[in-house]
Amino acid sequence: MTARFVPPHPPRGKPVAMWRGFVGERARTAVYGWSKEAFRKRHLRMKVFAFNVHIPLDPNVVERVLLGNAGNYEKPRVVKKLLRPLIGEGLLSSDGALWRDQRRVVAGSFAPAAVDGKVPVFAAAARAAGDAWRPGTRDMAAAATETTMCVIAMSLFAGDPRLTSDIAMRHIAASLEGGNVARLQAVLGLPIVPLTPKALRGLRGQKFLRETLAAVVHERLPDGGAEDFLGHLIRALRERFPPEEATALAVDNAATFYLAGHETTANALTWTLFILSELPELQNDAAQEARQALSAGEGDPGLPERLPLLHRVLEETLRLYPPVPRFDREAVGLDSLAGHEVRAGDFISIWPWLLHRHEALWDDPNAFDLDRWTDERRHARHRFQYIPFGGGPRVCVGARFATVEALTVLAHWLSRWSFAPMPGREVAASGMVTLRPKGGLPLRLSRRD
Ligand code: HEM
Repeated sequence: MTARFVPPHPPRGKPVAMWRGFVGERARTAVYGWSKEAFRKRHLRMKVFAFNVHIPLDPNVVERVLLGNAGNYEKPRVVKKLLRPLIGEGLLSSDGALWRDQRRVVAGSFAPAAVDGKVPVFAAAARAAGDAWRPGTRDMAAAATETTMCVIAMSLFAGDPRLTSDIAMRHIAASLEGGNVARLQAVLGLPIVPLTPKALRGLRGQKFLRETLAAVVHERLPDGGAEDFLGHLIRALRERFPPEEATALAVDNAATFYLAGHETTANALTWTLFILSELPELQNDAAQEARQALSAGEGDPGLPERLPLLHRVLEETLRLYPPVPRFDREAVGLDSLAGHEVRAGDFISIWPWLLHRHEALWDDPNAFDLDRWTDERRHARHRFQYIPFGGGPRVCVGARFATVEALTVLAHWLSRWSFAPMPGREVAASGMVTLRPKGGLPLRLSRRD
């Protein structure tokens, strides 16, 4: 690829007070309203209501928070409060011994061999989606969400139809949107009560998801039933915890994996399709690679290794549009970060969005450039400057699952369909928890053969 391509990003202005993150577009889009300095400075410090917030932008400091001194940085109490009604004390929202025990319980299900064994499931979901398409316009953000939801239900929950229904999809979207409203109440230390119709829909969505997953878990008691992720989870938790606690944790983790496991990957698929729709030559090359790779057999676990070009496209897309643009920690005790004192209770906000586009870390950071992904340049970089999946002991447990799933699904779709942008339609990033194109991603589909 020769021509320089800079995909859209929100405009950058002057620094604004952090409280403004709770009003207007900034309240809807985490990556909106950043100043130019935020992409140049090595450390940002600010006060948000009662909290001291640090945003480290030096990869060495990020490494200290996530790895070197990770014991001093836990998931923030306000985030846990916000997440508790939905994912309780599951893997994502627990700390200490409870987190460690749960991480051990699920580790085997996400080991490389286990993930590679899921390629046929990923392929079947991709094929089923693609078979139903007709040439014309389709919202690929919705298609990606349906497909990844189907993948999670098939690969972790024995394909339970309650987890792939339209109603489940609507409730998930509502709970994510409702979460934004609750965020302000949680940060202010207020009880989380629904104040707006959106917040009310969010709460109803949470209730539906929680009750559905609780029913799915209870039907599998006491021995976990099938030899799948959920069965293993229930059995392993019952070996370690008293029955009541084990059941509660099984529901918490069912919700955690159901939610964490599909919305993020759907966004990764969507942004990759957006980039490829803007770069037709690259798309043709990726489609050609996909066809060759698939000729060895559709469910072949070695498929991802035969997609090096597509893999680079995915990595560069996750740099420019990290599906999780920020995540947070709270300091447990004293520390010093980049010469700034950190006290117990301070917030450390880790921002892949800022790190991935930082001027001191990347050449021409806003441009899409596959040459960044040669082995040589990859190894020359600090490993904590590119963190779409986080880092350290709490690195995304589903990172490999997501990568193999995204490559398999994209290979299937690209081998049969070509994707073109809608003329005149602008794409903008949106979302507070995850980053997706505002209003979906309608693309024009035509058959490749
Ligand atoms: C492109 C897709 C994905 C992205 C960008 C992503 C991103 C992340 C990030 C940044 C974290 C770390 C959060 C933190 O440190 O506070 C995380 C954690 C986590 N992710 Fe993912 N994720 C993806 C896919 C998945 C999938 C497919 C699953 C499961 C099937 C999953 C399950 C989890 C869980 C359970 C955690 C918590 C791990 C722990 O705290 O030990 N994620 N993810």
